[in-house]
Amino acid sequence: MSESDRMPVTAQRSNARKIALRLLGWYDVHRRILPWRAKLGECADPYQVWLSEIMLQQTTVQAVGPYYRKFIARWPDANALAAADLNAILAAWAGLGYYARARNLHRAAKVVVDKFGGEFPANLEQLKQLPGVGAYTAGAIAAIAFDLPFLAMDANAERVLARLFAVEEALPKAKTLLRRLGQQLVPRKRAGDFAQALMDLGATTCTPKKPACRSCPVNMHCRAFKISVQELLPHKAEKPSRPLKRGAAFVARDRSGDVLLVRRPENGLLGGMLQPPLGPLTEQFPSLEHAMLQAPFPADWKKRVSIVRHGFTHFELEIEVYVAEVDSRTHGSPPVHEGRTEKDSLPFHGGRAWVAERDLPTAALPTLMRKIIAEALS
Ligand code: ADE
Repeated sequence: MSESDRMPVTAQRSNARKIALRLLGWYDVHRRILPWRAKLGECADPYQVWLSEIMLQQTTVQAVGPYYRKFIARWPDANALAAADLNAILAAWAGLGYYARARNLHRAAKVVVDKFGGEFPANLEQLKQLPGVGAYTAGAIAAIAFDLPFLAMDANAERVLARLFAVEEALPKAKTLLRRLGQQLVPRKRAGDFAQALMDLGATTCTPKKPACRSCPVNMHCRAFKISVQELLPHKAEKPSRPLKRGAAFVARDRSGDVLLVRRPENGLLGGMLQPPLGPLTEQFPSLEHAMLQAPFPADWKKRVSIVRHGFTHFELEIEVYVAEVDSRTHGSPPVHEGRTEKDSLPFHGGRAWVAERDLPTAALPTLMRKIIAEALS
């Protein structure tokens, strides 16, 4: 039983209220300026909150910034996003990773338009019904967009709560406990600011290393600080090692520099994204003979010396890159750059297209595929 479990309920509530008040006071002065955040005194836009929360799942604040701005400029509300071409959304998302999020984004925007008249519902259960919106994200949107009394807990907030309550259990298992403890602190008013205050305190003060405990607004309530274990918390379970997979990629160019790309199947890893033709992923690289059987067509394929490496959540990947210069007219569709207006809607004849080099930066190419092409063109 922890110290606070032994406290009378009224004392726990009054402690929680003090912590929330101190955090809110700190937030009013020290809040970060973030592109998706409502300015002081402005109301949050639920579409912007939802979009940012989806992007921030598994991705850092820094990485999300440019993508968020690009999306808001191009698709300023749910109606615009619902009406967009999915391939355009995938192309704009390229590089952000976890591409199922982009597909769910499109689906959710359509639900918001079809079911809720284009406005996000101010209701936790209805938010949870949107594709890609789980319990955590629904709580974050409910709090930040509608000030409903829920918690939003990113890795920064997790660390703050783990220290505040000196939680010994290791992450990620400890998340359930941390949510329960954090939820008890959520104030009836300004739940959105409170959620963001926890995240900001973690990002700026209660940092992973050398936390600035002296300037922390809740240090007098912090159990970890009291017993000087703040730098040891939160504990983290050791991550299982990721298996290594290997394969071969085939970057075909024609004389004008166009690159052959294919679209991946809609479901599964990097679903719906573009790539140069890629052989199966196995334990070993294919022999030269096998690689030639995996190539999209016979050509004078030359293997590059460098190997492309990339980490996914569940495995690591090493790719050997084969390059050939071929005549695009004899292999699949003709080049597609002439007279095209919508870069994202490449006409993929039989699932393949020749893409002009100048169109590659805006194509729906995940980071791994960009690395492969960069190696081939180097
Ligand atoms: N991580 C998850 N949601 C966030 C938010 N709204 N602001 C900053 N970081 C976050």
